[in-house]
Amino acid sequence: MVAMSSEEPSNAERTSAGTAGAGTASATGNRSTTPRGEAFAAYIAANWAERPRTEPAPREAAPFAAARRARLSALHPGRRLVVPAGPPRVRSNDTDYPYRAHSAFAHLTGWGADTVPDSVLVLEPAGDAHTATVHLRESAGRDSDEFYANAAIGEFWVGPRPALADIAVELGLATGSLRAFLETGLDELDWSVPTLVLRDADRVLTTRIDALRPSLEDPEAVDDADLARDVSELRLVKDAYEIEQLRLAIAATKEGFDDVIADLPQIVASPRGERVVQGTFDRRARIEGNAVGYDTIAASGPHACILHWTRNDGPVVPGDLILIDAGVELESYYTADITRTLPVSGRFGEVQRRVYEAVREAADAAFSIVRPGIRFRDVHAEAMRVIATRTAEWGLLPVGAEEALEADHQEHRRYMVHGTSHHLGIDVHDCAQARREMYLDGLVEAGMVFTIEPGLYFQPDDLTVPVEYRGIGVRIEDDVLVTADGAERLSAGIPRTADEVEAWIGSRR
Ligand code: GLY
Ligand code: MN
Ligand code: MN
Repeated sequence: MVAMSSEEPSNAERTSAGTAGAGTASATGNRSTTPRGEAFAAYIAANWAERPRTEPAPREAAPFAAARRARLSALHPGRRLVVPAGPPRVRSNDTDYPYRAHSAFAHLTGWGADTVPDSVLVLEPAGDAHTATVHLRESAGRDSDEFYANAAIGEFWVGPRPALADIAVELGLATGSLRAFLETGLDELDWSVPTLVLRDADRVLTTRIDALRPSLEDPEAVDDADLARDVSELRLVKDAYEIEQLRLAIAATKEGFDDVIADLPQIVASPRGERVVQGTFDRRARIEGNAVGYDTIAASGPHACILHWTRNDGPVVPGDLILIDAGVELESYYTADITRTLPVSGRFGEVQRRVYEAVREAADAAFSIVRPGIRFRDVHAEAMRVIATRTAEWGLLPVGAEEALEADHQEHRRYMVHGTSHHLGIDVHDCAQARREMYLDGLVEAGMVFTIEPGLYFQPDDLTVPVEYRGIGVRIEDDVLVTADGAERLSAGIPRTADEVEAWIGSRR
């Protein structure tokens, strides 16, 4: 076995059989564990029937992933590219977080929630293109004790793994044994080939590659950061498969919001109604998809003024608004990102409605300018024009709207400190490593998907606003697809206007 230095359990450590007990740590001698005797090992190894095998079929994502790899390949002729799925992450002691493959790995393989942890995609230069291989931990035979005695990866503990040949067919690329890759294959590669690795995906593997490859002496040469940038920028424009996945994620998210509205009586009755909101939405996410794309924000009353309120331990009180920012993530990892702000009693109060409709006006204004060729930053500017105008009109600003909008003023931003839009896809904040000139300062293109999510948040202790505004927080967040000549609001099916929202709650009661 290859020795590795890291605070994380290594690929090879997980591959080796014999962790008799739960999880990835050792030291379980203080409780009952798997029998270790030779007689038992012989007994459990025998008398297993052949499993019926279903014929593998190519997945819908496979040709799209191949096209994405081809685009990446064209950016890096002659270079080896290593894109790991990454290891499981420890939550505490021997308990991991739910596994999540790195987004770039998922994007470039089409493999989502059922990715075998620690898999590695390698693009090996071949002529002026690359050959793609996914190295994965293949299913262990009954001749090893892994299947019953390894709590981290054993079949009796976490379920069977797919065969290399099946994944090759499903993903439409070559597959190889991860064990062989880590134990010998990696060392035997031609290390004169310039190699880039996606560093943040798998630190253990990255450390090994750092030791094996010659250092990049030319400061002008490309490095790992270029790869991280490219796999991010590759996702700025979505393909047809991705757009369909986002539509499905948004449809499932609408169901989650419907469920929350149907559960409002129970939500209001609970002392921790926000938790009930989260439980209801997250149940739908697990039923329809893989999980939530980010922790559900269920922020009632003044909690709505806390932008990422995920503690969700407060009551949901009639007369208040509740801000719910939630998105279903599918098995493909594509996620929605939707916010609706609902009057708990079913009707907006006068000031609540005024604030709500100002936010909606800002969202509508921003949406109205979206088409190919505008700058991404213009979407935010358009929303801010409305936010400044309305807050000035209500007498909240020390200056007029025009002056507030000047770069060195921005007083209106006291009530909305966040941005208006971010790219959305396989990550909720997608394309995070893209260059600023491709993102904020870049031109909008057909096929981009992003959020429009203005808000107004009047903190309960904000002395610049009249008492009746304090503790009101509103955000309206929709997911938008740029089309050839404009934009489509993908979340148009989820009620938005104050009247629609009231009717929505009324119809469910
Ligand atoms: N839910 C996080 C965001 O809206 O950006
Ligand atoms: Mn968002
Ligand atoms: Mn959101």
